[in-house]
Amino acid sequence: MNIILLGPPGAGKGTQAVRLAGDLVLPHIATGDLLRKSVLQGAQLGKEAKDYMDKGLLVPDELVAKMLKARMADSDVKSGFILDGYPRNLNQAKTLDVLLKDFNLAIDLVVYLDSSESVIVQRLTGRLVCSGCGANFHIKNMPPKKTGICNHCGGKLFQRTDDKEETVRKRLEVYKQETASLIKYYESKQKLHRLSADEDAQSVLKKIAQLAKEFDDSLKV
Ligand code: AP5
Repeated sequence: MNIILLGPPGAGKGTQAVRLAGDLVLPHIATGDLLRKSVLQGAQLGKEAKDYMDKGLLVPDELVAKMLKARMADSDVKSGFILDGYPRNLNQAKTLDVLLKDFNLAIDLVVYLDSSESVIVQRLTGRLVCSGCGANFHIKNMPPKKTGICNHCGGKLFQRTDDKEETVRKRLEVYKQETASLIKYYESKQKLHRLSADEDAQSVLKKIAQLAKEFDDSLKV
């Protein structure tokens, strides 16, 4: 099954994608994670992307498309995937259509996680990320068992540079200008399903799993 999780920054796409990927045994492909990995590795792509990311702007389409194409060619993607953070604008959606066609794949389900601005700002400014395994926590909503330490690998937790309130507001602005148009695009293809993501993570996961099950009732979710 091939799923896209859409939604504003902080709606919980990453949180849900990780859980869903575990339940459905599918790879989680997050362009934000791939870009951050590239920055950490000091790769050319990361060097070109970093400034855009720090400012809360979209990385140029051609850079992200090249990176995604390489990931989509991996063998694990053939059995399905959960895409998080891509596409971000209409051009990327059309690029994705062409890319998937080349791999003989198609999108089955687009889930739009809708969230209010106040919830988004609270979630992102309180998010903590593990420097070891990349797991996400939140100082209040999902605190780690030990302050500053990852529950899963013992790694040190840090705040993403783009999670400062000013950059969060910039990312929201970019989202409204660029990404919101995707809702219409996938609605016109009758792929889009909206749900409120302001509830607790487990309730949101249940609703996404229900949608996946409606699409494929053989799923064990
Ligand atoms: P990316 O990493 O994709 O950031 P984003 O889309 O802004 O999304 P986030 O990761 O911030 O939020 P999320 O919805 O995944 O929320 P999460 O689950 O973490 O992109 C970063 C940057 O990379 C972009 O700004 C851009 O520069 C670049 N980029 C990436 N893709 C690109 C592309 N395609 N084209 C161009 N540029 C690209 O949750 C947030 C917090 O809330 C966490 O602390 C979590 O614990 C908590 N939380 C989650 N769900 C709940 C819940 N239900 N209840 C309570 N708390 C919750």
